[in-house]
Amino acid sequence: MALLEICKYPDPVLQKKAKPLKETDPSLEKLIEDMIETMYHAPGIGLAATQVGKPLRVIVFDLNPREEGRNPSCLINPEIIEAEGEQTLEEGCLSVPEYFSEVKRKAKVKVRGLNIQGKAVEICGEGVLATVLQHEIDHLDGILFIDRISALKRALYKKRVQKKLKNQSEAT
Ligand code: NI
Repeated sequence: MALLEICKYPDPVLQKKAKPLKETDPSLEKLIEDMIETMYHAPGIGLAATQVGKPLRVIVFDLNPREEGRNPSCLINPEIIEAEGEQTLEEGCLSVPEYFSEVKRKAKVKVRGLNIQGKAVEICGEGVLATVLQHEIDHLDGILFIDRISALKRALYKKRVQKKLKNQSEAT
């Protein structure tokens, strides 16, 4: 297994729409293993392939990323087939460091996809899991959680990033 580099906003790869996979193969298994290791190392509770610079429709997640209770899941070509209710939870993202904001999403989702063996599976999620699934699937469509906050908050965040990037380039 290997740690992968996580792309950070404003890396344009994060805006790319990821391609669906036709079949699973050994290189995909390796990618999924590396994504899980990278997610735990970060640490985070979800990661999409887009975030490691691979525009493929693959996500991994684990709501209990601590050593003792680890139970990683992956979904290939995930698709939300049912959604209901509304909830607002605070979100962060490994590609949007040092920023958190509340995001309104569906409270319950049913997601269909393939597991690592290429078998069709369905996952129902509510609460944090519902948010994580929607957040990660958004990544596959080139959408970040900061695209779902108010325009004012987003503008403030973008300004902060630009200032930071400017300071970094002045320092080097
Ligand atoms: Ni994210």
